[in-house]
Amino acid sequence: MKFIVAIDGTAASGKGTLAKKTANHFGFKYLDTGILYRVVAYYLKSSEIHSEISKQIVQDSLRLLINKDFKLSHLRNEEISFKASIISKNKIVRDNLLTYQREFAMQEGGTVLDGRDIGTVVCPNADIKIFVDADIEIRAKRRYDQYLKNNSDSNLNLNDIIDDLTKRDYIDKNRQLSPLVSAKDAYLLDTSNITSDDGLKKIIKIISRKLEK
Ligand code: DC
Repeated sequence: MKFIVAIDGTAASGKGTLAKKTANHFGFKYLDTGILYRVVAYYLKSSEIHSEISKQIVQDSLRLLINKDFKLSHLRNEEISFKASIISKNKIVRDNLLTYQREFAMQEGGTVLDGRDIGTVVCPNADIKIFVDADIEIRAKRRYDQYLKNNSDSNLNLNDIIDDLTKRDYIDKNRQLSPLVSAKDAYLLDTSNITSDDGLKKIIKIISRKLEK
């Protein structure tokens, strides 16, 4: 059985946690597509590459993800978040990551992908599309608590995070290629005033209804 769930949304809206829990609940495979853009940004920075981005560079970046010594925590900081948003405007990056994402999505057994353009560009025929958003202050507070918990970026304060998220939303929504926008046929999920478990329940209901048909 092929069944694709596309979960898009703004930065720190909670889409990643919801997508992961959704995949666990249904036994589907899960891909956090933001990681792909983040690893390219990380590779460019750590290898001090300042030349034009090529297909080879994107492929070399992705190889880091299969290296078992590579720590994903290197990708989860504000600097890489911002750089990822910048390089995600690049056509060579987007085109090369598109193939990878589509192949992942088409696997048997059900898949969940979260990102910015899954329901609009990567999988426009996804079985279920969800668009997640929340108020900027609430998203920033959640991100701040996450950093405190992980003891990373401890110099950041809440206002810095609000600024970073605002800039990132702006870049993601206004880029020419695959901008962040809700697909017309997506369910909108505002997580400002609900817990992650409440959000998950809503998504499970939507998917179960479709699976029963
Ligand atoms: O979901 P995230 O915050 O980890 O994503 C980091 C950046 O990657 C995001 O600001 C824009 C880019 N991105 C994208 O352009 N398309 C996606 N499907 C996923 C992420």
